[in-house]
Amino acid sequence: MAEIVIDHVTKTFGSFTAVDDIAMTFADGEVTCLLGPSGCGKTTLMRMLAGLETPTRGRVIFGGKDVTRLPPRKRNVGMVFQYPVMYPTLSVFENLELPMRYDRSVSKDERRRRVDEILDVLDIRHLARAYIEELDAGTRQKVAVGRAVVRQSEIVLFDEPTTNVEVNAKLQLIRAFKTVTSRLKQTIVYVTHDQTEAMTLADRIALMKSGRIVQYDRPQVLYGQPTTEFGGWFLGNPGMNFVPATVVNGQISAPILARPLNAPADLRGDKITVGIRPELVRMTGAPGEDSVPAKLVDQAIGIAGRYLTKARIGDTVVKVNTQGRPPARLGETIHLSVPRERLMLFQDGARIPAQFG
Ligand SMILES: Nc1ncnc2c1ncn2[C@@H]1O[C@H](COP(=O)(O)OP(=O)(O)O)[C@@H](O)[C@H]1O
Ligand SMILES: [Mg+2]
Repeated sequence: MAEIVIDHVTKTFGSFTAVDDIAMTFADGEVTCLLGPSGCGKTTLMRMLAGLETPTRGRVIFGGKDVTRLPPRKRNVGMVFQYPVMYPTLSVFENLELPMRYDRSVSKDERRRRVDEILDVLDIRHLARAYIEELDAGTRQKVAVGRAVVRQSEIVLFDEPTTNVEVNAKLQLIRAFKTVTSRLKQTIVYVTHDQTEAMTLADRIALMKSGRIVQYDRPQVLYGQPTTEFGGWFLGNPGMNFVPATVVNGQISAPILARPLNAPADLRGDKITVGIRPELVRMTGAPGEDSVPAKLVDQAIGIAGRYLTKARIGDTVVKVNTQGRPPARLGETIHLSVPRERLMLFQDGARIPAQFG
């Protein structure tokens, strides 16, 4: 068992707080993606898990053992950071074998068997005798992934391992990563700022902002049930729309709504934000019962059979992601409608529970 407990960990640099009282548990045998914008403290948190940085306050516990003060080599974790350290003049096989070379608990035969297995899983058996310096960046990074997992340490840490890899190799690497992790059942923490990568890889996503964890849940829950505006915006292609709304006599009105919504009974204040995903906004050429007129203000961009565009209702611009080509040209009038049961309400950046029929 190697669950990771982060027990109220804080890291400050001078007067700046990079990691702010994070308390959470990463489950044994799961892939947790630490997702958040650049500068939010992901690497700082990872360095504390790796033992490269000491928390200012709090504890790090691996499988019930307090490792807060242990140096990296005593933590038995594998890691791959953005720029992996490898030996260019050794072969792929030798690089994969190296992490186990001085481990007396692993026999030579066992070492070979594990390297063979990893070569197969990563689909690089044909490169076993190649030298690292002969490989492209993506393949090198695959070998780095292999090196991190081959020792079969219970915990493996990855910090943006695909950053310097071109897009095709990146997909390959992600596929290889999925195969490796489902096979080896190690506890994995994978840092990324790329939501697509996180959605693809993670059993659970820990969404981070300004040194804190905003939400920690399954990818589909983060996407479908964000607890904050930040979460709704950060996950999505593009992120959620937020439309300012007013509350009068228990009725919520917003430019995107053809008819008002009933406000939740305990709602306070008269300002609120209505959230709706761009892919849920419907766009038609003719007006409908529940639609509002809008003007198409952005050239539609087609991506993989879907179209991204924007429409304006008064001062409100709404991002739309539709299945078909927009039914009008730039500057022309179209009609927008939203499924009321999929609308979300936010106040002061936080989601407030509400159900609309
Ligand atoms: N050694 C350090 N000294 C001072 N500030 C640091 C140090 N390491 C990180 N920071 C600051 O902490 C914040 C978080 O950095 P980092 O953990 O690298 O973020 P991320 O990996 O999410 O991009 C940044 O503002 C960064 O400048
Ligand atoms: Mg980083």
